[in-house]
Amino acid sequence: MEALMQENRVFHPPADFVKGAAIPSMEAYNKLCAEAEKDYDGFWARLANENIYWKKPFTKVLDESKAPFYKWFEDGTTNASYNCLDINVEKGLGNKTAIIFEADDGTVSNVTYQEMLERVCKMANALRKMGIKSGDRVIIYMSMSIEGIVAMQACARIGAIHSVVFGGFSAKSLQERIVDVGACAVITGDEQLRGGKPLPLKVIVDEALTLGGCEKIKNVIVYKRTGGNVAMTAGRDSWMHDVVANESTTCEPEWVSAEHPLFILYTSGSTGKPKGVQHSTGGYLLWAILTMKWTFDIKPEDIFWCTADIGWVTGHSYITYGPLAVGATEIVFEGVPTFPNAGRFWHMIQKHKATIFYTAPTAIRSLIKASSNDEAVHPKSYDLSSLRLLGSVGEPINPEAWMWYYENVGGSRCPIADTFWQTETGGHMISPLPGATPMIPGSCTLPLPGIMAAIVDEAGADVPNGQGGILVVKRPWPSMIRNIWNDPDRFVKSYFPEELGGTLYLAGDGAIRNKDTAYFTITGRIDDVLNVSGHRMGTMEIESCLVANPLVAEAAVVGRPDELTGEAICVFVVLKGGRPTGDDAKKIATELRNWVGKQIGPIAKPKDVRFGDNLPKTRSGKIMRRLLRVIAKGEEITQDTSTLENPAILEQLKEAL
Ligand code: WTA
Repeated sequence: MEALMQENRVFHPPADFVKGAAIPSMEAYNKLCAEAEKDYDGFWARLANENIYWKKPFTKVLDESKAPFYKWFEDGTTNASYNCLDINVEKGLGNKTAIIFEADDGTVSNVTYQEMLERVCKMANALRKMGIKSGDRVIIYMSMSIEGIVAMQACARIGAIHSVVFGGFSAKSLQERIVDVGACAVITGDEQLRGGKPLPLKVIVDEALTLGGCEKIKNVIVYKRTGGNVAMTAGRDSWMHDVVANESTTCEPEWVSAEHPLFILYTSGSTGKPKGVQHSTGGYLLWAILTMKWTFDIKPEDIFWCTADIGWVTGHSYITYGPLAVGATEIVFEGVPTFPNAGRFWHMIQKHKATIFYTAPTAIRSLIKASSNDEAVHPKSYDLSSLRLLGSVGEPINPEAWMWYYENVGGSRCPIADTFWQTETGGHMISPLPGATPMIPGSCTLPLPGIMAAIVDEAGADVPNGQGGILVVKRPWPSMIRNIWNDPDRFVKSYFPEELGGTLYLAGDGAIRNKDTAYFTITGRIDDVLNVSGHRMGTMEIESCLVANPLVAEAAVVGRPDELTGEAICVFVVLKGGRPTGDDAKKIATELRNWVGKQIGPIAKPKDVRFGDNLPKTRSGKIMRRLLRVIAKGEEITQDTSTLENPAILEQLKEAL
């Protein structure tokens, strides 16, 4: 933290970049901010009218009468898929490449806007034929594919609400989401291909549907990716290519209110149960479009590449909706960054002449490591001269990784947009604007125009610059979360807590603003949420999973810093049968890792497992997580442990397996 605050290298937007930029100076940025300050409704109304096709124009901008259940542009009607596809075809971009898809094995297929529109229409017609209507929920459990994007857009076209579940989640995680969202259909694939290996999808769907509560599922639509052997249940399961075969290539969109839910995406929170983050259609789309223009400075000739998965919010905003809504050409990649070798990203940038590249710090750090003693996969062994802008998302980017990215990938010529945002915010919140903001490594700099971000103390009062605190947003913004599906109380408590006065949006992160520049630096989550390789994991989720194992009596989960993954998951376990030692302990540690992998998904597998006869608790029985964090880091305990019930067990917990 100290080092970060003393970071004084400043990188100015390159002159070439500034010339054509959408926001070409700090004056232009300040002007937009001032416009929002002066007339908040007018600012958003202007942008919404300029950037979205409204079937029926809205008359009211922001309705705060049921705050914090804010409504934006509510009486306006529109359709997200229409705004992404039809609009561009009507503008004469029908023959423009919408998606350059590169498969795991390197095979490339391109789809134009016209083709994309036709494929989405066919799929939308097929869904309608199955009786799926506006407001119905559809689960999408697919790998990175054109078909995955088509499935999402097809839902949007008919007003069905999609809920994409990341293809790495387990059958149980999938079933919980199917049940919570009350889905009527699942769209999946036979298998997915990652790093040359086929991995199951349909088999997991089949298992999920036997776990109970999934009776509402009437249809399972399967995209044939690998041709692997899967069972098809008659009357329920059908192949995607069969259901679209005879459908028309046109489909009248469902014109929905701007407030109609576009999607629900589950993310981890402070309790054991993931939250179904509900987003709107109009406000969400507006921000996806504006951030494509402002943060990514998108131009017609750009080749945009966001490496996220459609199972995460980044894939929603910056693969499925944002790039298409602005008529861009984007790369979609099926595989992993290390296959066939760790030069895959650089090779693809060179091959497709990518101009904008958006990835996660974890990926950057792992590629730094992989290329440190292997020239062949180092970015300098590739022609990356097409790049003009880089982006980072999902976790704090440490200054060393920032510098490496800047110099080796961007050739010291490309600005880096370090974009801070969340599943709940729908799009970027705090980020440099590449043609305007001077960049400081490790800082996400300043809020986007219209985003009233601030730092407050525990009572909700502003703290001065230079003093750390809680990151909040003071005013509602169009792409904000609308609700937690089926749980409005949790929505209010989680995001607009009474303690802060009830009107501030609580992001769940700590932050500090620099004394001189007022730049924001995110200091990490302040709740029980970990960020592992850019994936959000609730410690409670993992704890409840562990205690569900028959061997386990008690478990506590904390994070510790990890060079590669940002944070690593460390679990402290008390077994019913006593503390295991030697090979026994190793065996059980592996068993527990696999258990978590099976129950939640491989991304949740703990890195360190420690066994104790007990956990460090206060006399009132509270687990002292602060102490566990110190132990997890491998540091000596300097804190007072006199309130501990059982200080002796600290020794036992030192051994990590
Ligand atoms: C973290 C991903 C620092 C933060 C879009 C946030 C970041 C959580 C950054 C949201 C960044 C995301 N700098 N931290 N540029 N971007 N985070 O919902 O802790 O998967 O609350 O959304 O990631 O993760 P989520």
